[in-house]
Amino acid sequence: MIKEIIFATRNLHKIEEIKEILKDLNIKIAPMISFDKYPKTIEDGKTLEENAAKKAREAAEFFKQWTIADDSGLEVDYLNGAPGVYSARYAGEGCSYDDTNKKLLADLNGVAEEKRTAKFRTVIAISSPEGKIYFTEGKIFGTISLRVAGTSGFGYDPIFYVPEYGKTFSELGSEVKNSISHRAKALQKAKEVLKRL
Ligand code: IMP
Repeated sequence: MIKEIIFATRNLHKIEEIKEILKDLNIKIAPMISFDKYPKTIEDGKTLEENAAKKAREAAEFFKQWTIADDSGLEVDYLNGAPGVYSARYAGEGCSYDDTNKKLLADLNGVAEEKRTAKFRTVIAISSPEGKIYFTEGKIFGTISLRVAGTSGFGYDPIFYVPEYGKTFSELGSEVKNSISHRAKALQKAKEVLKRL
């Protein structure tokens, strides 16, 4: 089994999440300090798979190390899968979470509850030092609520409603969310892949 892996992200919350999930494997998550000199990957892929693979492969080839990277997005059925890979910049380059949520609620204005189905999807790419990619995926299904509810989390959390719990991701709080989320599921599957490498 591999001994050390770089997580190609500058997001400290993601580092903590992956450390928690992988804690019982004997794999070191390489320190982020090395990323100071590392140029940011341009996420210009048309799919989550393309972006995750690009982030993982560029870092793997740069550091000559096993690397893991993720890319996530919200896919709304009524909008044919949008915002998807463009989730972060749905309301324009540099927009806030508040802007994206307002835009999505406006785009679904008048759309009946049963047609507001959506899913969060995470794709994880694990790259060998030579750039061979292994993918995993995690999804959670829900609906887009009629208005924002709850304060915890980030991004679309206040408008992503999970029917099984009768609450939005924001109302659920981070502990419950992180046990059922798209990212958690993809990371659990990544753990199974890492065990076999
Ligand atoms: P990333 O690939 O994890 O950076 O996610 C891209 C964008 O998708 C974020 O900027 C958010 O807008 C949205 N997103 C991804 N995961 C979540 C989540 O767990 N809750 C809310 N929004 C999310």
